[in-house]
Amino acid sequence: MVISVEDARLAARRGVPRWLFDYVDGGSGAEATLRRNIAALARLGFLPSVLRGAASPDTGTTLFGIPHRFPVILAPVGMAGMLSPGGEISAAIAATRAGLSMCVSHFALASIEDVAAAVDPARLMFQLYLFRDRAVTRDMVVRAWAAGVRTLVVTVDTPVTPLRPRDARNGFRGSTHLSGRLATQCLLRPRWLYGALRRPNRIIRNLAPYGMGDTLFAQAAAIGRAIDPAIGWDDIAALRESWKGRLVVKGLLRPDDTERAAAAGLDGVILSNHGGRQLDGAVSSIETLAACRAAVGGRIELCVDGGFRHGADVVKALALGAHGVLIGRPWAYGLAAGGIEGVTDILTLFHDGIRSSMTLLGAPDIADLREARCDRLASIT
Ligand code: FNR
Repeated sequence: MVISVEDARLAARRGVPRWLFDYVDGGSGAEATLRRNIAALARLGFLPSVLRGAASPDTGTTLFGIPHRFPVILAPVGMAGMLSPGGEISAAIAATRAGLSMCVSHFALASIEDVAAAVDPARLMFQLYLFRDRAVTRDMVVRAWAAGVRTLVVTVDTPVTPLRPRDARNGFRGSTHLSGRLATQCLLRPRWLYGALRRPNRIIRNLAPYGMGDTLFAQAAAIGRAIDPAIGWDDIAALRESWKGRLVVKGLLRPDDTERAAAAGLDGVILSNHGGRQLDGAVSSIETLAACRAAVGGRIELCVDGGFRHGADVVKALALGAHGVLIGRPWAYGLAAGGIEGVTDILTLFHDGIRSSMTLLGAPDIADLREARCDRLASIT
C-alpha cells in the first residue's frame, strides 16, 4: 500500500534495475543540494490560525493558463518511459484525470505527438532544451505547437551535466550501449525486463528525426553534448518573439534573474535547482522564493520545485507566495511502482495532504493562503 512518497520510492527500488533507480533517485556531486531541498522544507514550520471554519478548502487554481484541481504540476523527467512501458503517456493520463497538467520532457521516450494524442493537449506543457543546432530546436518548437501545446518551458540550468556519482559508479554515465553489468542488473528485475522488451518506445522519440543515435544509450550519451552550453538572454528574447503561447523559464534561483525574466516578457518562472542534479551546493528554491517573489511582485507567475514530498510542503511554498509546485521524483517513483495507478496514488496523497493542511491552517482557498503569506509560516533554525 502506498501511503507516502517514501513507500513508492521503496517499491520503485524493488521494481526496477539498480542503475535505473539510481538515475532517478540520485543527484550530482556530494548530493548536498539533493538533501538540502528536503531539509529546507522541513525547517519551515506552520503558525496555524484556528476557529476559521475552513472545513472544506477550495484547492483549485490556474497555473500558466491551465486550470488545476490543486496547485501541482508533473515536472519534466527525462527518459521516464524507461520506468514503465509507455511511462510518459501513463503519467499524462494520471495527471489529466486528476485535473492537473504535465510538463513533458524534451527527453521523454514518448514523442510529444504521442503524449498529446493520448490526453487533452491543453493540459500539457513542453519542456525544451536549446540545442547547439538551432534548426533542431526550431523544429521541436513547431512540433510542440502543432501537437496542441501552448505552454513552453525552457530549462536553462543544464549547460553541462556534472558528475552524478551514482550513475558513474553504475557505469550508466556516458555508456553508449547496454553493458554486461547494466544487463545483469536488468536480469535481476524480470518483471520490469518483460515490460521493457514489450514496450512501444525504446528510444527518445523526440530525437529520432535528428540523427542522434538509434539506441537509447547512444542518445543518452549524445544529449549532454547537444545542449548549447552558451545560451543567453538573447536566446530567450528570440523565443519570446517566435513563440505565440505562454513562455516559462525553468532553473532560476536568483531574484535579479527572476526580475530579468519578468522584464523579458515571460509568463512565468520555475525556481529550481533541477532536483539537486546540477550545481551541487546550490540553494533550495524554497529558500530563495520569498526574495524572488519580492523582486517581481505579482508581475509573473512563480512556481517552485525540489524536494516536495508531502501536501504540507506544497502549502508551505504557497504560503511563501508561490503559485504552484512541480514534483519530479514523486511521480517517477509512483510510475515505477504501479504505472497509471501508481502515479494516481501519489497525486491523491498530495491532494489529500494539501486539503487537510489548509483546513488545519485555517485557509479556505488558495488566494487566502497566498495572500496571508508568511503570516502562517515560521522558520525553525
Ligand atoms: C529531472 N529533471 C528534469 N528537468 C528538466 O527540465 N528536463 C529534464 O529532462 C529533466 N529530467 C529529469 C530526470 C530525472 C530522473 C529527475 C529526477 C529530474 C528535473 C525535474 O524537472 C525537477 O526539477 C526535479 O525533479 C524536482 O525535484 P524533485 O521533485 O525530484 O525533488
